[in-house]
Amino acid sequence: MPPLDAAPAPAIAPPQAPVISLLDAEKVYQTGEVPVAALAGVTLDVAPGEFIAIMGQSGSGKSTLLSVVGCLTGLTGGSYRFDGEDMSRAGRNRLAEVRNRKIGFVFQQFNLLPRLDALANVEVPLVYSGIAPAERRTRARAELEALGLGRRLGHFPNQLSGGEQQRVAIARALCGRPRVLLADEPTGNLDSKSGTEVMEIFDRLHAQGITLVMVTHDEEKARRADRIVRVRDGRVDRAVV
Ligand SMILES: Nc1ncnc2c1ncn2[C@@H]1O[C@H](COP(=O)(O)OP(=O)(O)OP(=O)(O)O)[C@@H](O)[C@H]1O
Ligand SMILES: [Mg+2]
Repeated sequence: MPPLDAAPAPAIAPPQAPVISLLDAEKVYQTGEVPVAALAGVTLDVAPGEFIAIMGQSGSGKSTLLSVVGCLTGLTGGSYRFDGEDMSRAGRNRLAEVRNRKIGFVFQQFNLLPRLDALANVEVPLVYSGIAPAERRTRARAELEALGLGRRLGHFPNQLSGGEQQRVAIARALCGRPRVLLADEPTGNLDSKSGTEVMEIFDRLHAQGITLVMVTHDEEKARRADRIVRVRDGRVDRAVV
């Protein structure tokens, strides 16, 4: 018989603390004459390892939401915790540090540097992390090889197809071994075959346990996520989950 003070084995695993936690998040842009509330009170938790898709009409606030989650921009109201840390109170340097260490980004336009070859593009974030050149090269090469680009290391962006460029961008995003990968319409500029390849990569990353947040206009691609979050006028539309 076990001693009386032994804790009973939990029947189910305890819920993990969210890696992303937005509470009543507001983002008002003051750029023009009329302020724009791009986020008007978003409350959203994402668990570690979860894959969520964000959908919504043009101008609904999806990219703004991703910028906030990715520590590219701060909030004007509400709060944001990332990986247990209150980012609403973080200064610019800390935001940049968290972004560089823990977050990978993939964009619709790939955003590769045109004067650098594939290998050098993937190395860029590691340069900022202060990793030694030999180690950078080894890691970048391994990341590109894992994505089927082992024979394209010395190609410049204009010598690569759209699908290949996006895979280089994914390799660059993964090279720093982020906790979270954020993708803003990653297949928006790709033909359907390349788009499917990108989704297969995401499925694989999801299976490996990375947290994924992907903005998409494509219902079929969104259905591959664990959960679809619909944004409308800067709010999460709870009516149509
Ligand atoms: N830097 C900015 N300065 C001022 N207003 C902005 C800025 N970025 C976005 N906005 C405004 O905030 C609102 C939300 O924009 P956002 O880019 O988040 O939409 P979206 O859902 O990503 O749209 P799309 O599907 O077209 O990419 C829009 O009205 C937009 O004009
Ligand atoms: Mg957008």
